[in-house]
Amino acid sequence: MIRIDYNKCVGCMSCVRVCPFNVIREYEGQARLDTTRHCIQCLHCAAICSVKAIDWSGETAILEDEPYQPTDDFRQSLKGFIKTRRSVRLFHEEPVPRKIVEEALDVAAYAPSAKNQHPSRWIVMDNQDIIQACMKDILEFVHQNKISQEINVLYEEGRNVVFGQAPTVVIGCANENSINPLADLALEAHTATLYLESMGISSCWAGYFARLTNQIDSIKERIKVSAGERVYVALMLGYPKGEEYCHIPVRRQKQKISWID
Ligand SMILES: Cc1cc2nc3c(=O)[nH]c(=O)nc-3n(C[C@H](O)[C@H](O)[C@H](O)COP(=O)(O)O)c2cc1C
Ligand code: SF4
Ligand code: SF4
Repeated sequence: MIRIDYNKCVGCMSCVRVCPFNVIREYEGQARLDTTRHCIQCLHCAAICSVKAIDWSGETAILEDEPYQPTDDFRQSLKGFIKTRRSVRLFHEEPVPRKIVEEALDVAAYAPSAKNQHPSRWIVMDNQDIIQACMKDILEFVHQNKISQEINVLYEEGRNVVFGQAPTVVIGCANENSINPLADLALEAHTATLYLESMGISSCWAGYFARLTNQIDSIKERIKVSAGERVYVALMLGYPKGEEYCHIPVRRQKQKISWID
């Protein structure tokens, strides 16, 4: 589990700010772990700690590599770029320019898709009133149905795990009878996020929103999801604010690879 070395900690509270599930919280002026909370092991806390005060049960939580710096070596640059991308949930209020969102989605169409079907249709919300109306419906739905209760608990603590502080939300839907819409849309979405990242625009998957939207008619009506369509992916987008990571976190789950000889 996460450990904070208080001999190194300078009390900047960056780890508190970025912990997506409020596992680390400020208590009496100190960053403290709440062990009753579910830690998703993202290690964003360690990645943002400039004095390297956070480890994982005595093991390092960060890579020795420095975050991405372009070099003349394309492969190294690409590797660094991919490993440096983080899910970001804290943004400036300014929406992503529509032209840029459209450009990224056009690029995303070059991702592969089953039988080249490209079944995606993209819906973009960049009006806070509409985003907040969707949030209100989600809060009511999870409360009434007693599911994903952490959404409400965290929201009351001031943390929105559904939309973060995103000024722009991109939603990918497709006809349910497409061959493999989830894979197709996931590939397009990640392609778009990498392209946006190259322009200083950060993102985070909005998995709660994608899943819950299909169960909430008021949201489907508001965002105009047609009959026969289903939402498969959603992304929070924006210019990052207060989530500048100085390290690359290790992956807690080592990659599992089996070779069949
Ligand atoms: C399918 C999927 C759904 C996700 N849903 C959410 C979500 O609803 N809210 C959220 O804050 N993060 C969400 N995430 C982000 C993950 O928590 C994040 O990718 C993970 O912790 C690893 O962090 P990294 O992307 O910075 O490496 C989702 C990611 C994926 C791939
Ligand atoms: S980010 Fe590091 S220095 Fe800042 S409060 Fe957390 S542990 Fe302490
Ligand atoms: S690993 Fe992620 S979820 Fe766990 S305490 Fe750190 S930031 Fe929070």
